[in-house]
Amino acid sequence: MRVEVRQAPLGEIEADLAVVGLYEDEALPGELAEAAGAGDARGGFQKLALLHPERPARLLVVGLGKREAADAERFRLAAAVAAKEAGRLEAASLAWLLPESGDDDATADAIVTGTILADYRFDRLKSSDPGEPPAPRIESLTLAGRESVAEATEGARICAEAQNRSRDLQSLPSNVATPSYLGRRARELASHHAKVSAEVIGRDEIAAKGMGGIVAVSQGSAEEPKLIVLRYEGGGSAPKLGLVGKGVTFDTGGISLKPSAAMHEMKMDMSGAAAVLEAVGAIAELGLPLNLVAVVPATENMPSGTAIKPGDVITQYNGKTVEINNTDAEGRLILADGLGVVRRYEPDLIIDVATLTGAAHVALGDKIAAVFGSDSEVSTQVLEAASRAGEHFWELPLFKDYKKSIESDIADLKNISGGRYGGAITAALFLSSYVDDEKWAHLDIAGPARSRETAGEHVKGASGVGVRTLVELARSLIEAS
Ligand code: BES
Ligand code: MN
Ligand code: ZN
Repeated sequence: MRVEVRQAPLGEIEADLAVVGLYEDEALPGELAEAAGAGDARGGFQKLALLHPERPARLLVVGLGKREAADAERFRLAAAVAAKEAGRLEAASLAWLLPESGDDDATADAIVTGTILADYRFDRLKSSDPGEPPAPRIESLTLAGRESVAEATEGARICAEAQNRSRDLQSLPSNVATPSYLGRRARELASHHAKVSAEVIGRDEIAAKGMGGIVAVSQGSAEEPKLIVLRYEGGGSAPKLGLVGKGVTFDTGGISLKPSAAMHEMKMDMSGAAAVLEAVGAIAELGLPLNLVAVVPATENMPSGTAIKPGDVITQYNGKTVEINNTDAEGRLILADGLGVVRRYEPDLIIDVATLTGAAHVALGDKIAAVFGSDSEVSTQVLEAASRAGEHFWELPLFKDYKKSIESDIADLKNISGGRYGGAITAALFLSSYVDDEKWAHLDIAGPARSRETAGEHVKGASGVGVRTLVELARSLIEAS
């Protein structure tokens, strides 16, 4: 979407649809109050009314709710309902009058973010019907406001579009978005950005380097696994962020096979990888002054005659042995190797992102991701970044007592706990044994990786969760240095 800021009256901006926000119990400004339909305009949050003033020709009034309650989240939601209404009205260009608020930059950011995310559709695999052309998309958004918001506006555009690209990767089926496909996407990012470089290795080299977790999970699949290392050099002495994203392009569960009912959803078991790859793209496009190394272990998890079997013992990249008692707890095995790889680059902060456990989904529901931090300072840093980014995260504890439940009788660790409960925590504890005293956080996005319904800026299907939080974390690392 083209996005720009113009310091001009709304009526002078050429657009298919103009949009203004109206606070509850307040009146439309002078000239608009006279427009046809103005009597219908209400400021109740997310209420809509279409007006026909002289100029602009069509004007959508969006209720912003009470002025005191207005915040970035509300502006994002208001922009999202306006974008969806623009879709119904087949408007390809929008002009939004930047509403009065305490923070112009945050408000401009929220409106751009809400518009771009709500306008998302994944329809590239549908054949087009010549009799019925697809509904037009919003091609341009002009903010009528002070020039000073231009930088915030451009930053928001970059992040929201990266999030939509992450949704694309998630939505693509596993026969398209293979580990090799993710590797090509990493190379493509490197070719687009001068400061980004990509290194992708395949099965033989993964095995030669002793990445036993990736070898084990991938050995049942005909699809070649890839270990992707994407680096961004934003400045010599700048802080370094290490990212790891779970890239299971299809998770059948392996020999510990999943039930078939919802198995197709497991094409999105690479949502962590998608968020990490596209966040690197966004950070590079923003030109943030930091250094970044992103590691994506990518593989399928399949049952076959060559697959790992319950009870098998493997050796991870760092030399630790693991008894694999459930082949469906595969994410932690590949992430353990990924964490080992990223540590070699000595980052100041390590963040891993993964659709790791159904238990995180059960604990926090569809809309909240779990964060586990190596200490409370790191958790707070993630929670604050998420809150600035407008994503919902909640902290769960790395409760040490539960570590006993992943002790194995015959190896250093086992990959599932004996008990039924606390599965998100035991998975996080498993990962914690692959980092030392580094600052590290684990983000379990199993719940919010997929939106169950179209609402607000969410569109049913892939959510792209994590991209905006990762970019904010990069910003917070720069600020703290
Ligand atoms: N990819 C799944 C977790 C998942 C479940 C993500 C639902 C999104 C939605 C993961 O690999 C998995 O299978 N985890 C198991 C772990 C168990 C065997 C200890 C789970 O959560 O059931
Ligand atoms: Mn699994
Ligand atoms: Zn999985």
